[in-house]
Amino acid sequence: MTAHPVTLHVCLACRAAGDDDTLRAGARLHAALAARLDGQGDVRLSGVECLSVCKRPVTVAFAAPNKWTYIAADAVDPDEVIDAAERYAASEDGRVPWRERPPLLKSGLVARIPPQPETRR
Ligand code: FES
Repeated sequence: MTAHPVTLHVCLACRAAGDDDTLRAGARLHAALAARLDGQGDVRLSGVECLSVCKRPVTVAFAAPNKWTYIAADAVDPDEVIDAAERYAASEDGRVPWRERPPLLKSGLVARIPPQPETRR
């Protein structure tokens, strides 16, 4: 794993078909991830209000210092999200080789954002 922890942002507001306001799909995914990540120091979970990809619930983002930020949608499987986070953490600059990506980082990929210029290598 990397020297810097990865931040895994999860939209808490994402709503799947049939969800009411009590426990939305995003909040359910966040809770499942929190249970699985308990005690794993390399992935920090962050619940956020909205990542502006609302029509493709659930939206997540992977971010770390000096790395590209990846935004992915249609996240439903917490194990796949953790797999993606671990592959992202293991990459040098956030770019996971295509053949190593889980579907979340292929068909689910919405955008990637370069590292901030002052932190770029
Ligand atoms: S409600 Fe989840 S991205 Fe907007």
